[in-house]
This record gives sequence, C-alpha cells and structure tokens, in this order.
Amino acid sequence: MRYWIVNGQSRSIVLIGMMGAGKSSVGRCLHRRTGLALHDTDEIVAAKFGMSIPEIFDEHGEKKFREAETEVLRRVRTEEQTIIITGGGIVLRKENVEILKRLGVIVWLDGDEETLFTRASRKRNRPLLQTKNPRKTFSQILGARRPLYANIADIRVGTSVLTDEEVAVAILAKLRRMNAKPESPIPATTS
Ligand code: S3P
Repeated sequence: MRYWIVNGQSRSIVLIGMMGAGKSSVGRCLHRRTGLALHDTDEIVAAKFGMSIPEIFDEHGEKKFREAETEVLRRVRTEEQTIIITGGGIVLRKENVEILKRLGVIVWLDGDEETLFTRASRKRNRPLLQTKNPRKTFSQILGARRPLYANIADIRVGTSVLTDEEVAVAILAKLRRMNAKPESPIPATTS
C-alpha cells in the first residue's frame, strides 16, 4: 500500500536526524512494511570509496566525504518512490537540503540528548565523536544541528522511548494523516 501520495505525486520518505536517532534501523522497518526500495547515503558513499566511513574520514578527510554525500544525493532518481536514509550531517549543505526537499517528505527522527548519545557511542564508527570529550562534542554538534533539522522537517518523531518498529508505525500513521489533508501538512510535534 502507498500511504503518502501527496497531491497525486509520488514522494519518497527521507529520514534525517542526529547520529543515534535510529535512521538506519527505522529505514529498514519502513522498507519491510512498505516494500519500497531503500537508499542509504552512508552505505552508497562507503561502497563508492570501497572503505568504511571512519576510513574515508581518516584517509580523505571530512570534506571529501561531504562532497561524495552530495554527489550521491544528486544521483537519487526523483521519479522513484523510495526510502532515503541520510547521514546526520546531510543538513549542513544548502544544496543537500534543496535536493532532499525535492525528493520527498522529510522525517526528522529526534530524541533526548542522553539517549541519542548513548546509542551513537555504542559503536565506535562515528569519526566525529573520536575526540577527547565525545559527550561534549556530541552536545555541541546537536546544538548546532537541531535548528537545521527543525527547519526542513515536515514531520518530527521523538524516538527516545519507542522501538524502531513503533517509530516506523508512527511515521506511517503521520504520513497517512498528512495524505488525508494534503493542504495542511502536520507541523512538527513531540510525539
Ligand atoms: C555523520 C553521521 C554519520 C556519517 C558520518 C558523519 C554526521 O551517519 O554520515 O559519520 O556528520 O553526523 P549517522 O547519522 O548514520 O551516524
């Protein structure tokens, strides 16, 4: 079933949010529930370089990673309705934001800072958190990015106390409601 044909146009589901928000796992739940194809910008960038994200940062630097990330977005086909999982820093470039808006409904996975940090630091695969004080670094990054996420999100879902499946269900429910009222998109809420 397709829940989010807005004004007769196919629109993808774009997941944004901070490291640890659960974008990848929720994206996979959405994929299972909807059958829509999945694009994960981090995975595509890693495949292009033939190395992991930490290795890309290490060997080529963040700038090259960001360039590759934008290149991946430019190549996502707009006519195909898909689920797009993005890296937490995708909102840093204006060009990325413009592309994401064209691609579809932007869903911001949020959560309280402590929960996000605990999840993000579980695996040591976040190069931006390899600092002397990862907790402080995380806080600074989150503080700088929250307004950017808020600015472009069509939907916000708080993930702190929900399982990935529950987040996926909440997203689909919001999209259904949005679809029923295409003239009045649902504002960001804290549910
Ligand atoms: C980044 C988040 C990572 C990955 C890269 C940079 C960021 O993705 O793109 O390490 O700038 O927040 P996740 O959000 O999936 O951790």
